[in-house]
Amino acid sequence: MLKKTADREHVLPLLEELGGVTEENVRRVSRQTGVPEAEIWGAGTFYTLLKGGPRVRVCNGLSCRIMGSDQLAADLRAKGKEVEEVSCLGQCDRAPAALDESLKVFDTSRRQRSITPADDKLPINLGGKRDFSFGALKQARAMGAEAIIKALEASGLQGRGGAGFPAHIKWKGVAGQKDPVRYVICNADEAEPATFKDRETMLRRADKLIEGMAIAALVVGAKDIYFYIRGEFNAEAEAVQQALKQAAPHVQDWNWHFHRGHGAYICGEETALLESMEGKRGMPRLKPPFPFEVGFRGKPTLISNVETFACVPYIISHGGEAFKAHGRTEAGSKLYCISGHVKKPGVYELPLGATLEELVQVAGGYEGNPMAFSPGGASSGFLPIEKRNLPLDFKGLAKEGSMLGSAGVVVLNDTVDMAKAAQWQLEFFEDESCGQCAPCRIGTRYLHNQVGKYLKSGDPGALKHANDVGWEMEEGSICGLGMVAHKPLVDAMKHFPKAFEKR
Ligand SMILES: Cc1cc2nc3c(=O)[nH]c(=O)nc-3n(C[C@H](O)[C@H](O)[C@H](O)COP(=O)(O)O)c2cc1C
Ligand code: SF4
Repeated sequence: MLKKTADREHVLPLLEELGGVTEENVRRVSRQTGVPEAEIWGAGTFYTLLKGGPRVRVCNGLSCRIMGSDQLAADLRAKGKEVEEVSCLGQCDRAPAALDESLKVFDTSRRQRSITPADDKLPINLGGKRDFSFGALKQARAMGAEAIIKALEASGLQGRGGAGFPAHIKWKGVAGQKDPVRYVICNADEAEPATFKDRETMLRRADKLIEGMAIAALVVGAKDIYFYIRGEFNAEAEAVQQALKQAAPHVQDWNWHFHRGHGAYICGEETALLESMEGKRGMPRLKPPFPFEVGFRGKPTLISNVETFACVPYIISHGGEAFKAHGRTEAGSKLYCISGHVKKPGVYELPLGATLEELVQVAGGYEGNPMAFSPGGASSGFLPIEKRNLPLDFKGLAKEGSMLGSAGVVVLNDTVDMAKAAQWQLEFFEDESCGQCAPCRIGTRYLHNQVGKYLKSGDPGALKHANDVGWEMEEGSICGLGMVAHKPLVDAMKHFPKAFEKR
């Protein structure tokens, strides 16, 4: 049993400060926190950024793979560098992406990156000037919680972290809890391959993010506000910290805290994120209870995505209907990330429900002959390019058996072997499965192995159980990772059968 006085929450930050998991560091952290050494080993070894030792990290995500990350890793090794190939670095617009030994990005891409140009009419307006007058917060104080929730409801804002859950229901849920201690947490873990919109929002519009979080804390009655920022995002964490200094005169009613991720994709899942904030392995909790009732430290907690919070100031200052009107098939504008075979990868703010074709147009056009796309990160599988005029929204993509997810769109042209693309995505899911439930732990490994066997032997028999295993994973997994991990393979087999014939 852990002693009541043990300080588990500081275990991971202390390990990081000391340089990672070593016998000596574990002993020191145990002495300092009162947490048994075995537990510290157990928690610390879960996280790749706590492995210790200087090394260059080369991204293995889909966009980086198709842009030559294997070659980049080989070149760096040939130069005598210690190289670690990692699942995702959140830099798909710089593909093939890499971080140096101090986690600084080094740009190897030859392509121009871009964002939507400044336009003050847009709700987020990445290209616009930061504004620290915090007029929306002043307005929110005058409106009161009930009117704010009504405005949120009228806006139709759906969470931008992946599931598209209506924001006003969550806010109301936390505000209505009996326990007077509540928390607000910003999920800035952004580790879904193909997704880098939260990165750009933190770098460019941390003013809107902070203002939106303050309004949320006002509504749910939280005193403590947390950022959970992915461990590799040093420049982004710095940008938010700087913005918080500028915002200080307006946000002194709250205690603001920073928590850094330690290199585990699964910690973007909200309950895994809470486990990690509490100093444990990032393993998703069984739900219910949901975080709005039992969250951080067992207290009601509002966890939302960076983009969700950043939409809030506009909703307060312009009204819910005005935000809604920015959407086409669903409410509001949306930050779409696009990478892969397009000329100007980047983050573009478009009406929710824009099509791939429109998105590619603003991203400078296709590179080569487009064949397939993945509409919402690795979890969304693949669609054939013939679907390029489908609205990229939550409901429509779900009907196609796909998902908008984090709106990380990757375009693949006909130079890509779809069986290989499926293998890369499965490698990601196998690496990132937390391993606590059998369908996901075994299923991700099995599918990854089988597609590898197929690619080696050319015998489609290797994949005869893929659909059944996928079904088991979907039905039997605790969290969203295991439920969708089969999709890249199963979708590729469905839409691109030729890529899976006898070779
Ligand atoms: C495997 C997995 C990874 C996730 N990663 C993220 C993430 O990096 N950022 C995020 O905001 N939500 C992520 N989510 C969704 C969160 O669990 C949660 O729904 C979200 O933070 C809620 O915010 P929203 O209501 O603003 O969308 C992930 C979910 C799963 C299943
Ligand atoms: S589905 Fe996978 S990632 Fe999610 S809890 Fe189970 S083993 Fe962990």
